[in-house]
Amino acid sequence: MLETIREQCETCRKCTLWKARTNVVFGRGNEKAKLLFVGEAPGANEDLTGKPFVGAAGKLLDTYLAAVGIGEDAYYIANILKCRPPHNRDPLPEEEDACKPYLDEQIRAIDPKLIVCLGRIAAMRLIKPDFAITREHGRVFTVSARKLLAVFHPAALLRDPRKKEAMLLDFKEIARLLETL
Ligand code: URA
Repeated sequence: MLETIREQCETCRKCTLWKARTNVVFGRGNEKAKLLFVGEAPGANEDLTGKPFVGAAGKLLDTYLAAVGIGEDAYYIANILKCRPPHNRDPLPEEEDACKPYLDEQIRAIDPKLIVCLGRIAAMRLIKPDFAITREHGRVFTVSARKLLAVFHPAALLRDPRKKEAMLLDFKEIARLLETL
């Protein structure tokens, strides 16, 4: 099932981002996991390797996962966009609209118990358009009968280390919730 969606992404030309991509960044992790992380879009390292969150933001994310004991087989991770926007600019609405059906299919196939949005862009797309990350991170929302929660994007912590304490609390909550789901 996921392989079929991956194949569709590999040949996708629904927006213009395919022109500059090195690799489609589909997703990685346990396809049967209870926990799904969703980021924004691939960066340079992700474009080169074809894997999400393998650059500096991904390394920082790994430290939070390790801190609360969430192992690699406990989650799947993907992005709203499967191709890298030039110079890591924010995704355009038409790019999100074109790519979102692939994520919807991934969510249907994985059927996670909890979706964690990494950053504002994913939260605005998956939770609500006016999501306020500073005020609403760490809160559980129910959307279409699924539980979703958003945390700061790890890249935001690189820019503002004061957010790290809140991030650790949110990850502790994610680990606690997982035990109950
Ligand atoms: N930032 C994201 O949102 N996704 C990645 O895969 C890498 C960095």
